[in-house]
Amino acid sequence: MQTLNRFLIESSIHMPLYNIIQFIITPAKELSRKINIAGLEDILGEAEATNVQGEEQKKLDVYANDEFIKSLNECTHCAAMISEETEVIIPTQYPNAEYIVAFDPVDGSSNIDVNVSIGTIFSVFKRKSTSGPVTEDDCLQAGSNQLAAGYIIYGSSTILVMTTGQGVHSFTLEPHVGKFYLSDTNIKTPLDGNIYSLNEGNYIKFPEGVKKYLKYCQENDKETNRPYSSRYIGSMVADFHRNLKKGGIFIYPNTEKDPNGKLRILYECNPMSFLIEQAGGKASNGSQRMLEVVPTSIHQRTPIFVGSTNMVNKATSFMEQFGTKTS
Ligand code: AHG
Repeated sequence: MQTLNRFLIESSIHMPLYNIIQFIITPAKELSRKINIAGLEDILGEAEATNVQGEEQKKLDVYANDEFIKSLNECTHCAAMISEETEVIIPTQYPNAEYIVAFDPVDGSSNIDVNVSIGTIFSVFKRKSTSGPVTEDDCLQAGSNQLAAGYIIYGSSTILVMTTGQGVHSFTLEPHVGKFYLSDTNIKTPLDGNIYSLNEGNYIKFPEGVKKYLKYCQENDKETNRPYSSRYIGSMVADFHRNLKKGGIFIYPNTEKDPNGKLRILYECNPMSFLIEQAGGKASNGSQRMLEVVPTSIHQRTPIFVGSTNMVNKATSFMEQFGTKTS
């Protein structure tokens, strides 16, 4: 079995990226251990605080955020961090370093208390300026500038899925040894799938294009294998992971309640879009390639359509035809 470290070294990864990945997986391993014994530790439930998005924080959100920040603060190549749980850019003790890491420490918080898969998402890119404290302008870049991205899914096993622009590879944590081992190389997502994942409870608030696409997914048609199956876990990492392996589409559109969508560009949509493109799939905000969107603020949200290329093409063609307007 090949360890993650050996794999990275043999694929001649740029040393700073190798280093940054180490500082991400170290707290992830400890987080995985805590999640596995969550009911026995005081980490379930609400933290009785809200984050910058006005969302209630879980104890695990706060714990994980602190651990990733603590770890990356020690990484000589990381100048600053952006986290879902922290309003401002978080400088490290190496402000002149070259790289920025954006992360969602615990994606799918609402699933923490009920023993359902959750994840950590990360994205690594270079700052624009060359020295001094990282500014907002340094962070506001298109996702196509990412150098590495991935997620750790804490499910029936803990798996790291990542890309550095040379395909998508996954590594399974062997908890007794405390190491990630290569478990799948060069993952390709099917061009077509028969799974759609979105929160159908929001149907009434969806844009017309999504409503029409949803009806299309539910129609009877032997040739295209419809009706498709509906699968929605409510942790993007878990929904994405299943669709990546089986083929499918994940959609979180703009809704009447969230006119700009719910998910964040820098630490949720960009990394997933980089991964899906590397796996031969596609990601769009409904009208534009996700990786070309340049955010104007670090916590900016976006609608997202991500998954099998033919499904994303079909869904976005419905968006073009019927529009993004919600009723
Ligand atoms: P968070 O990171 O705050 O836990 O948000 C979870 C995200 C994403 O993982 C999931 O797909 C989506 O929010 C679920 O939202 P709904 O409950 O609105 O469907």
